[in-house]
Amino acid sequence: MNSNLRIAIQKSGRLSEDSLGLIKECGIQFYSGSGKLKSESSNFPAELLFLRDDDIPGYVADGVADVGIVGENVLVEKNKPVTLSYRLGFSKCRLSVAIERSKEYHGIGDLQGLSIATSYPRLLSGYLEKHGLRADIHEISGSVEIAPSIGLADAVCDIVSSGSTLMSNGLKEVEVIFRSEAVLIANPGLDDARQNILDKLLFRIKSVQAARNNKYILLNAPNDAIPAITGILPGMKSPTVVPLAESGWSSVHSVINENDFWNIIDNLREAGAQGILVVPIEKMIL
Ligand code: PRP
Ligand code: ZN
Repeated sequence: MNSNLRIAIQKSGRLSEDSLGLIKECGIQFYSGSGKLKSESSNFPAELLFLRDDDIPGYVADGVADVGIVGENVLVEKNKPVTLSYRLGFSKCRLSVAIERSKEYHGIGDLQGLSIATSYPRLLSGYLEKHGLRADIHEISGSVEIAPSIGLADAVCDIVSSGSTLMSNGLKEVEVIFRSEAVLIANPGLDDARQNILDKLLFRIKSVQAARNNKYILLNAPNDAIPAITGILPGMKSPTVVPLAESGWSSVHSVINENDFWNIIDNLREAGAQGILVVPIEKMIL
């Protein structure tokens, strides 16, 4: 038996494209034909298994897959013995209770005694219990949003991302019960060989994410402005300062975080920076 790391990802749905995109950005190549269930990498000791997202925690727990990418909503709902290895930060969504738009809503107490359709009975009942409420939970596996209009339930508890599914079914969100994002899960009993491959994968994922959140910045400044400018720029260690051909001038190179990007640019200009270039980083090895 080979010791490829078997990575389960969603076959089709909200997570599939970003999951596959992340794997590719990690430099792991696959021949992905449509309708395939399994695909081996040509340049990394791994194979992809394309599965229904709801089944991924179970397959990882049973060892059919070694790791998987799923929404935290599915992970918590399925409650399988797997390890949450890493939060991936994409496919952010919330699990919410929604009722018909025409109905009045005064607060959480209004949920008392309602019938609520959901694919997330565990998360919903935990939430109701925490708030001392009783409701009649109807577990259904798909198309939850149509339940009120066909008279199956008074309310739904379902995943909301853009909100367009609720909107087009005449529903309004009234309570958020759980916030979710994609996570990487792993079987807790991986052998050393597979754990080693997982560590390599995690290292690559972190480098890809760091690169996405940071930009490389280059600027020119008169030498007397350099102390103020290097004070503004953090850099991975400290900024690189190199002399320009024109005497009395230098070029400064550094890395800045996307979050405080515009503040830093404003401060740099005030400090005398000119010819500022900001370029994307392909990979950032931490
Ligand atoms: C969820 C939910 C809605 C949709 C909401 O499905 O059931 O159908 O996403 O998204 P919106 O707010 O952007 O319209 P999900 O992809 O989680 O479905 P699955 O259960 O089929 O995996
Ligand atoms: Zn699903």
